[in-house]
Amino acid sequence: MKISILKETAPNERRVAATPETVKKFVALGAAVAVESGAGQAADIADADYEAAGATTGARGTVLEGADLVLAIQGPEPEGLRRGALVAASLNPYQSKELLQAYAAAGVDAVALEFVPRITRAQAMDILSSQANLAGYKAVIDAAHAYGRSFPMMMTAAGTVPAARVFVMGVGVAGLQAIATAKRLGAVVSATDVRLATKEQILSLGGKPIFIEDEETKAAETAGGYAKEMSDAYKAKQAALVSETIAKQDIVITTALIPGRPAPRLVTAEQVATMKPGSVIVDMSVVQGGNVEGSRADEAVVTANGVTILGFSNYPSRMASTASSLFARNLLNFVQTFFDKEAGALKLPEDDEIVKGAMVVRGGAIIHPALQA
Ligand code: NAI
Repeated sequence: MKISILKETAPNERRVAATPETVKKFVALGAAVAVESGAGQAADIADADYEAAGATTGARGTVLEGADLVLAIQGPEPEGLRRGALVAASLNPYQSKELLQAYAAAGVDAVALEFVPRITRAQAMDILSSQANLAGYKAVIDAAHAYGRSFPMMMTAAGTVPAARVFVMGVGVAGLQAIATAKRLGAVVSATDVRLATKEQILSLGGKPIFIEDEETKAAETAGGYAKEMSDAYKAKQAALVSETIAKQDIVITTALIPGRPAPRLVTAEQVATMKPGSVIVDMSVVQGGNVEGSRADEAVVTANGVTILGFSNYPSRMASTASSLFARNLLNFVQTFFDKEAGALKLPEDDEIVKGAMVVRGGAIIHPALQA
């Protein structure tokens, strides 16, 4: 089995899909690993490190030649991939119909790692968790950097400095890490979500839950653990709660997402206008449409009342080295799970729960039920 690792081509993408650690393990399985020259550079991994781990390095064409499995962070264009090859990457499937169609036309199979079901057996392959956790951490660090005051309370001879008040909206994996990070930095933290299950989690991290509790929130969570789109009546109640809360905050971190839908709008320009000058908002959902009115990807927007709104298009890439090592381990776990020793190749049984969940293109067609328009 030949495994190929490509240099990522998307703007702002500094991660790489394999590390010397995972290359060594692929080689131990009996695979030949080829890495495109410079693939690890932005994540602090030199070609020589991959070579020392047992890989060959070279130009893209050579690396792709005869590849059975192409591991990537974002889905590569199908040019140069052989018919019958498998791509495993974060494919952003709802927004990447054209790429998936191109794979199907080229006879390339594809696994979308963000579709790996969130079951215990697949936890070690969960890129959404591994990357969102780092993103939640980084969002708080970004906020602290842009904030002209301190996070912890400080009692000094010159006087006492109050702790920053941080409000986290959306308490999934990123939100939980944002709460934990803000607490570690000494902030006073509150948080909200539509899923009632998160209330306990907020409390356990030392945060204060701010919730609307009605009949609808009791059923706001899908069987898969995700949020549903809420009704207009709920949205009105939520807007009132946000208006009441937000003016008292120094930092707001928003992470709310609904799978396959635009990000819910949680903060309006009028609400931002009630915040104090110097406050900072980080809109982590900016690429999916944004939770905050006025946020722009990769720009620091400063409002008329002096509030800075940040939003980055690729958070994990801003921690490229750690994000790569975790993403690479997620991929390694996927490969190890489905590697058939006797055949010396991957076997992806159609009736396996993980394969059913994550395989989006197979045998020349887009096969995933969620992608059938
Ligand atoms: P996500 O990235 O899809 O959404 C982020 C958060 O935004 C969620 O907590 C969601 O409830 C919240 N949200 C959506 N609409 C909102 C609104 N209008 N107002 C406020 N908040 C809103 O979520 P993520 O981080 O992917 O986690 C989703 C679920 O998956 C969670 O239940 C988590 O516990 C679960 N999970 C399970 C794992 C496993 O069993 N292997 C691993 C990781 C997560």
